[in-house]
Amino acid sequence: MELISSRELLYKAMEDGYAIAAFNIHNLETLKAVMNAAKLEKSPVILQTTPGTLRHVGIAYIVAIAKIAADDYGIPVSLHLDHCEDLETIYKCIDNGYTSVMVDGSKLPFDKNIELVKKVVDYAHKRDVQVEAELGRVGGTEDDLTVSDYEAFLTDPDMAVEYVERTGIDSLAIAIGTAHGMYKDTPKIDFRRLKMIRKLVNIPLVLHGASGVPDEMIKRAVELGINKINIATDLKNAFGKALKNFFMENPNEYDSRKYFKLAMEAVKHVAISKIRLAGCNGKI
Ligand code: 13P
Ligand code: ZN
Repeated sequence: MELISSRELLYKAMEDGYAIAAFNIHNLETLKAVMNAAKLEKSPVILQTTPGTLRHVGIAYIVAIAKIAADDYGIPVSLHLDHCEDLETIYKCIDNGYTSVMVDGSKLPFDKNIELVKKVVDYAHKRDVQVEAELGRVGGTEDDLTVSDYEAFLTDPDMAVEYVERTGIDSLAIAIGTAHGMYKDTPKIDFRRLKMIRKLVNIPLVLHGASGVPDEMIKRAVELGINKINIATDLKNAFGKALKNFFMENPNEYDSRKYFKLAMEAVKHVAISKIRLAGCNGKI
């Protein structure tokens, strides 16, 4: 199986009322852990990488391992660029085989945001690549992107309609109270706003900052129309905690295959639980 565009995954999810779990991966281990989870759950999956991961691993390496995984695991998988503000990087990812991209113009004024996103849509759609963009501003920290509480703001439903129409994007990331990274308190999600946006906007909706959000809230968000949930921090934590525990118990063990195996298991378990919350289990 080849990497597929996340457009078909997300539109099917929107029609049938569930979400696709999208996982930020950083290396071969996290990629395989997520793929193992998706295979076990008979779930389609979106693998995504931030620009920080591109710098860490290299675009060509990521595309190569994602393509091999799609073929090897035989499940529908899309490769998505997460939160990218730079046109050159976006074009490079598309040219190298990414099947989906997020152009992040959320820091820009409305018209400038639209201008940037339209450029990406023009380029991507000619190459059958789907485009996600964000209106409103999700708070917190995702790799090298930080939005303070003060700068964060929620998506306006009427502006969302205009944004979708004018940009021609395939999926819309909305700000409804979640944030990237760890939460200090339980997040306050504006479900009423989500309902309104869902009523007015007819393309798949994306929830960022899904790590640390209580399960019931994720389920409710999916019931109300979220079609993609983004998870990064919960996987990072699972991986890191497994390694820490291993070294506490085995301070003299240096074989990376041993400790990475445990870290991969931990990531797989978290990914399975997120896939079930999203409701994409059993969808292949
Ligand atoms: P978390 O790190 O909070 O899971 O957010 C993930 C995300 O939104 C990736 O774009
Ligand atoms: Zn995000």
